Amino acid sequence: MRQGAGVKMSISFSDRVAIVTGAGGGLGRAHALALASRGARVVVNDLGGARDGTGQSSEAAQAVVQEIIDAGGEAIANGANVTQPEEVEAMVASAVERWGRVDILINNAGILRDKTFAKMTLDDFRLVLDVHLMGSVICTKAVWELMRQQAYGRIVMTTSSSGLYGNFGQSNYGAAKMGLVGLMNTLVLEGKKYDIRVNTLAPTAATRMTEDIIPDPKLLELLTPESVATGCLALCHDEAPNRTILCAGAGGYAVSRILETDGIYLPSAQQSPEAVIKHWDAIVDPDGQKELAFGGKQTEKFLTKAAAAKK
Ligand code: NAI
Repeated sequence: MRQGAGVKMSISFSDRVAIVTGAGGGLGRAHALALASRGARVVVNDLGGARDGTGQSSEAAQAVVQEIIDAGGEAIANGANVTQPEEVEAMVASAVERWGRVDILINNAGILRDKTFAKMTLDDFRLVLDVHLMGSVICTKAVWELMRQQAYGRIVMTTSSSGLYGNFGQSNYGAAKMGLVGLMNTLVLEGKKYDIRVNTLAPTAATRMTEDIIPDPKLLELLTPESVATGCLALCHDEAPNRTILCAGAGGYAVSRILETDGIYLPSAQQSPEAVIKHWDAIVDPDGQKELAFGGKQTEKFLTKAAAAKK
């Protein structure tokens, strides 16, 4: 069935509780405001540090909470550092204490430590992995059991074109961001029975993270965080898709997929690197390429080819 075909015309979050990490500014703020404007009760999490992860302040999250309250919504501020499990567990506990459940987790918090791989220190590599990848793992772990018990959960990871396709100077960030796609792929399988759906957003927006990368103010005006938040909401409502990487920016929406070509089979006597190179055109031929439902499907495909060749 065409995904989205059964979605009701108006999406409401009025009975839902959402946690948005890194929501003191940029995209997280837009996600939190958009969710709250459609009735969600929102935990606005933000450590309040600088773009490189240094420093700490509760002001940004408080300000977003105030915006939500002023607009007639409900929200609480939280200053947990997503890399600290105890702080994250306390954040989830405060949401449960206040509203009794957590339905939606938007893993959005992030930092940058850009440098070419040649110049990058291992500490900068680890820190970026820690915030983006482990931060999302820690927040997801903190709501996972709750969502299983509720038999309901919507989780959004935040990846990046830098992870999906690469970006000069962002090996640490790219590795962390692609790791989130891997995390989604397995959580989808483990969460399915409990109606926990996991999707990934690949945004592009004008925020402090990108303001010096795109210097033209006219282009920056088009890249609104709100246009990305729209995509985020499409990934976390009742009838949301599952295991989808939604790319969003400047009003553009697209899907990114990992596909595997059908490939070839080589009998054991021909399994040489020379033969692989010789058959390269057939190996890379996109005809019949597929998105595999889970890892075992790859083994199944190759064994089916091997068995067919033996007949
Ligand atoms: P931003 O820098 O405005 O927002 C990130 C927020 O995360 C900040 O408010 C920061 O205080 C918070 N944060 C950082 N470390 C934290 C921690 N340990 N615990 C809690 N909060 C923490 O940047 P932006 O652009 O809004 O980024 C949001 C997400 O979108 C990030 O994951 C980023 O990697 C991703 N992204 C953004 C793109 C863009 O074009 N702006 C492109 C691709 C991905």
